[in-house]
Amino acid sequence: MSDKIILEHYAKLSKGWGLQGQMSMQDKVVRERETAFITKQTQHCLRTLGVAPEQAVVLDVGCGNGYLLAALWEELAGADLRGIEFVPELVAVAQTRTLPGLNIQQGDMRVRDCFKQQAHIVITERSVVNLLSWEEQKAAFENIAGWIKPGGFYIMVESFQEPWTEMNAARRENNLPEVPISSHNRYLKEPCIDTLGSLGLRTVPGVEAQNALSSHFFLSRVFQHLLIQDGRPASERVWQFFAEGLPPDVGNYSPILFRVFQKDCI
Ligand SMILES: C[S@@+](CC[C@H](N)C(=O)[O-])C[C@H]1O[C@@H](n2cnc3c(N)ncnc32)[C@H](O)[C@@H]1O
Repeated sequence: MSDKIILEHYAKLSKGWGLQGQMSMQDKVVRERETAFITKQTQHCLRTLGVAPEQAVVLDVGCGNGYLLAALWEELAGADLRGIEFVPELVAVAQTRTLPGLNIQQGDMRVRDCFKQQAHIVITERSVVNLLSWEEQKAAFENIAGWIKPGGFYIMVESFQEPWTEMNAARRENNLPEVPISSHNRYLKEPCIDTLGSLGLRTVPGVEAQNALSSHFFLSRVFQHLLIQDGRPASERVWQFFAEGLPPDVGNYSPILFRVFQKDCI
């Protein structure tokens, strides 16, 4: 049943959005900031490892239409960029990106054999949350840990329940209805970080705060709704003033967190 939800959801999105970044995230600000964070973090991790881009193997697990991989390709000349994607329609779209060094295959992150190598860096961008039970998410984490070279990194951009609860508390206090979790997602909970630790993946500081999308979520999901007058939202100028004036990481209102883990060297 859960596979059917995912397959149908993304088959439809692949038709509507094709190669565009909004295929899996209609909020353009979130999409741009995720892409910028992952790109900067990937470069930083490779520098830490002393690995030149042309020697690097980077894997995007649940690579969708390949939008992120194409952005990485622009910045990591000569890297071996791999993508695994479950939904056949998205694999077909992603494979139209004929970029040297880019390799996208159909695969299921719950199955260890779908990637037979080890990468310097493994990335997930809101893909583990598409597994709709903890057992499946845990199996994916075990595989991800296995797909990273010793000393390599896991860059995780995934949604968590705790900040989602915070965001909805702020909405409730202001008489706004709860933002539900979509049926194709199961948000992670903080204790999953302990599970990653038990798999040899240790939290390390990222190039951005883990709550770097918090101010954006507060402004767009709470504050903006309070400025409506006579049914009309405040002007773009008002919105921009706060968006530009606030530090990005105020509070814990973004379900999507930026996290980085390094695999033990043994
Ligand atoms: C939010 S999208 C990822 C976006 C992607 N990084 C991009 O650049 O477009 C999550 C992706 O995970 C994929 N996915 C879901 N379950 C999966 C599984 N079991 N194995 C591999 N991919 C899966 C979805 O089909 C979807 O394309």
